[in-house]
Amino acid sequence: MIGGGTDFKSVPLPVRLCYDRAQVIRLYHVSKVYPPRFAALNDVSLHVQPGEFVFLTGPSGAGKTTLLRLLLGADAASAGQIVIGGRNLARLGRQGITRLRRSTGMVFQDSKLLPGLTVLDNVALPAEAAGASPRDARSKAFALLRDLGLKDLVRRAPPSLSGGEQQRVAFARALVNDPRLLLADEPTGNLDEESAARIVELMRRAHQGGATVVVATHDPALLRSLPGREIALRTGRVVAGDGAPPPE
Ligand SMILES: Nc1ncnc2c1ncn2[C@@H]1O[C@H](COP(=O)(O)OP(=O)(O)OP(=O)(O)O)[C@@H](O)[C@H]1O
Ligand SMILES: [Mg+2]
Repeated sequence: MIGGGTDFKSVPLPVRLCYDRAQVIRLYHVSKVYPPRFAALNDVSLHVQPGEFVFLTGPSGAGKTTLLRLLLGADAASAGQIVIGGRNLARLGRQGITRLRRSTGMVFQDSKLLPGLTVLDNVALPAEAAGASPRDARSKAFALLRDLGLKDLVRRAPPSLSGGEQQRVAFARALVNDPRLLLADEPTGNLDEESAARIVELMRRAHQGGATVVVATHDPALLRSLPGREIALRTGRVVAGDGAPPPE
């Protein structure tokens, strides 16, 4: 049981996605260099099929967050090409990136909920940014939070929530626009087993709903809990599982 007495597993799928809305992701020789000359990603090439579930693994500093930020369009690659759904991110321009971000949900390593807004308003915000009226955005956010068993938290401020609750609200926020691509950065880091299991269930449902899911983690328990392809990074390079088709 979670939150307002809802049996979490019996509630219907909260996200209305369909498989063919998901987008293929291709990276060609991508590097990301932070000033003055530190290569956080170094010649990374990889492919992710629509509707795939991918774990991005590697030790601290391997470049996982850096890669997720590039996929979100929050940072630009220093070299190479990133193509999502046939669109080259380097050529999209600001408006194109904003549109892309609307079809992408991101759960950050530190949840990044806005402390001055209620849980409901945090979840409604991306829907409003995507063009919904404040009333529609809040009603959509409420329905999603209710479906996820978080109804009792809607009026709370994020700082008053437990770490596990904050992560679940961050997932609700990432899912409110029915994303084609869900990116999650260490979503179970520092969570107890039960909270982590609830997060796993959210990712499973988003994936079953048709989203392509990319999860950065070095949590072995999370890796065992969901079937997914593992792409391993070490010091900014892909060392296993890049998903590239075999050479012809
Ligand atoms: N804005 C930045 N400026 C300079 N260096 C950075 C910046 N962001 C990340 N780095 C460096 O790039 C490398 C990769 O960082 P990144 O955050 O992608 O690693 P990570 O795999 O997510 O690690 P963790 O598991 O600790 O979250 C690290 O050495 C980090 O110090
Ligand atoms: Mg990280």
